[in-house]
Amino acid sequence: MQQKILYGGDYYPEQWLKYPDILAQDVEYMKEAGINTVTLGVFAWSMLEPEEGRYEFGWLRGIMDRLYESGISVILATPSGARPKWLSDRYPEVLRVREDGRRNLFGGRHNHCYTSPVYREKVRAIDMALAREFGSHPAVILWHISNELGGECHCPLCQQAFRDWLKKQYRDIEELNDCWCTTFWSHRYQSFEQIEAPSSLGEKAVHGLNLDWKRFVTAQTADFASEEIRAVREGGGSQPATMNLMYDYSGLDYDELAKQMDTVSWDSYPLWHKQEDIRTAMDNGMQHDFMRSLKKKPFLLMESCPSATNWQGVSKLKKPGMLAAASLQALAHGSDSVLYFQIRQSRGSSEKLHGAVIDHYGGRDTRVFQEVKSLGGSLKKLGEIAGSRTKAEAAVIYDVQNRWALEDSQGPRNKGMHLHEAAMKSYQALKKLGMNVDVISQSQPLEGYRFVAAPILYLFRDGMEEKIRRFVEAGGCFVLTYWSGISDRWDRCFLGGTPYGLTDVFGIRRTETDALYDQEENRMVSDGQLLPKGEYVCRNLCDLLELKGAEPILRYGDDFYAGSPAATVHAFGAGKAVYVGADGEQRLYDELYARLAAEAGVETLTAGAVPEGIEVCSRCSEKAEYVFVQNYRNEPADIRSLDLKGEILYGGSQNELGPYETLIVRRQKSTR
Ligand code: GLA
Ligand code: ZN
Repeated sequence: MQQKILYGGDYYPEQWLKYPDILAQDVEYMKEAGINTVTLGVFAWSMLEPEEGRYEFGWLRGIMDRLYESGISVILATPSGARPKWLSDRYPEVLRVREDGRRNLFGGRHNHCYTSPVYREKVRAIDMALAREFGSHPAVILWHISNELGGECHCPLCQQAFRDWLKKQYRDIEELNDCWCTTFWSHRYQSFEQIEAPSSLGEKAVHGLNLDWKRFVTAQTADFASEEIRAVREGGGSQPATMNLMYDYSGLDYDELAKQMDTVSWDSYPLWHKQEDIRTAMDNGMQHDFMRSLKKKPFLLMESCPSATNWQGVSKLKKPGMLAAASLQALAHGSDSVLYFQIRQSRGSSEKLHGAVIDHYGGRDTRVFQEVKSLGGSLKKLGEIAGSRTKAEAAVIYDVQNRWALEDSQGPRNKGMHLHEAAMKSYQALKKLGMNVDVISQSQPLEGYRFVAAPILYLFRDGMEEKIRRFVEAGGCFVLTYWSGISDRWDRCFLGGTPYGLTDVFGIRRTETDALYDQEENRMVSDGQLLPKGEYVCRNLCDLLELKGAEPILRYGDDFYAGSPAATVHAFGAGKAVYVGADGEQRLYDELYARLAAEAGVETLTAGAVPEGIEVCSRCSEKAEYVFVQNYRNEPADIRSLDLKGEILYGGSQNELGPYETLIVRRQKSTR
C-alpha cells in the first residue's frame, strides 16, 4: 500500500441520504481533520439492493466520487454482515439456527448461516455486482469482507456440512471413534451420518467432538469468506482484501482466516482508565502483536473509538491525550492505519450513543473533533513509517485451539484456568525489558526466535513437542509452564508421562497437579542460584515435579509438597529448557525472563531499563528504525534511563514524556 498512514474510519452515508447538507459538510470536516480513508458499505445491503436483484448503486457512486475528489480513499465493504428483510422473508434458511434447533427470527447481525447455498448465492451476487461497479473506481484501495465474522449455526445444512467435513478428516468411523474416545459412556458412532453438532440438549461430553466442531466452524467461516473474496475478484475487484477481527475472540481460529486475506485488520476497544493504563496498554499491545504475528507484516487498525463506546459495562471518556496514545500504540505495534468506528454518529438504534468523530451536535468545535484533527495533522508527517516491519526475537505462544481444549477439559480447575492472564504475565515480562514480542500460535515456526514462552500449553498438536525439541537443541531458550503437554489434538490424554515427548528435554516429569482454591496460595522459594534469594507467591495450579536431570531453581514453600521443585532449568543441546511449575506472580516472570532473555541474547530496543508506566516498541524500514516510547501515566515520566539517541520524528524530548505522550525517534539501523 502507499506510503501513508490510513486515517479515517467507518462512514455510513446511507443513513443520511435525506440530509444532503450533512453529507456535503461531512466531507469538509473529514478534510479538515486530515482524514484520508473511509470505510463504506458495511451493513448497507438494504440500500444497495432494496429488492431482490434490483441494485441501487448511484448514491454510493456519488459519495465515492466526492470523497475521491477530496483526496479520500475508500475501503469498500461487502454487505454480508447483516441482511435485508426481503432476503430472510423469502429464504428463511439464511437465518441462523441455535444449538437447541430453533431458528432465529429476522434481526440483529451475525445472524446468518455460513453454509446456506442461498445465502452464499445472494452474497456472491451482490459482491460481484459491487465489484463490477466499483472495482475500478480509483478511490477503492481495499475490500473489507463482511464484518467481524463470528458465531455458529446448527441448521440441518450446517450439520450435514459438518459430517462431510469429518469424512475428510478421518479414514473411517472407527478412526473417529478412536480419536474422540467415544467408547467412554458408550457414545460410539457407527456411521458419520449419526453425528450431530455439540449441543447442551445432547452431546457436550465428547471433547474431541467439541474441538472438531470448532475447527469445522472455522473452516466453514473461512470458506464463506473466501467465496466472498472470489466473487469480488470475479467481478473485477483486484484490490487487496481484509477481514476485521476482534479482541481475544475465541470463536474462530484466526490463523485459518488470516490465510484467506491479504492484510489482517482488527477492531480495538480497550477499557482505558479502568485500571492502571499501562496494564490496559499491555493487554491491548498483546492483541496488536497477535494480529501482526498472524501474517508477520503490518496490519490495519480497522476500528477504534474516538470517544467512548456505548456497549461496555461502563463506557468512559478518554482523558486528554489518550486518543493519540491509543492510536499511536497501534502504529508502534505495526499498524499502517488509525481508523475509527465511526465518522458520524447514527441517529437511532443500538449505536446512536456510540462515540464518533462527528456527534449529534454536528460541529467541529468539540473536544473529540479537535483531538482527531490534531492527530490527523501528526499522522500526515509519519507516512514514512507505513510498511515498516517489526522484528521480534522473543515470542509468546497463545493458541486458540489450546484455549478451546483447556476451557473444555474438565480438569483441576473448572473455575478459571486463567490462560489469558498467564499469557499476559509472560508478555508483560518481556515488554518491560523493552523488547518486541510476537504472539503466535502452535502452527507458526519457532525459527528466528531466541526466546519463546508457552504458558499453559495444555494441548499439543501437529508435532509441537518436536518443534520445541528442535528449537532448544538449536540453542533457543524455551519456557513451558504448568499443565502443559497434557493432551493431543483431540484432547485425548497423552500416555507415558508429561510434558509429552519432552521429559528428557526439560529434565522433569509432572507427576501430579494440585489445584488451589481462589483464596489459597503457595510460595515458590529461591535459594539465590538463578533468581535472587527470596520467594514468589503462586496460585491456582501447582505441578508436582520429578527431577530427571533438571536443576530446580525454585521449590515450593508450603503444603505437603513443600521443598519439592516448583521450577526447573535444564540444558539441552545448545539451548535451555525452563519449566515453571506453578502460576507464579508477575514479579517471578519479570525477574526470570530478565535473566533468561539476556542470556539467550534477545536484543532490547533501548540501552537502559524501561521505567514504570512506559511502553517501548520499534519498527524497521530498509533504511531506518523507528522507536516508539509511550507514557501511559497521567503524569510526566522521566525517560532518561532509556538513553535514546536519534532524530525526533514525533514528540518533544528524549528526557521526559508528558502525560500520555508519545515519542517517536528515527535512528539508523546500524546504531543499535
Ligand atoms: C464492532 C463492529 C462495529 C460497531 C462497533 C462498536 O467493532 O464492527 O460495527 O458495532 O463494534 O464499537
Ligand atoms: Zn446453517
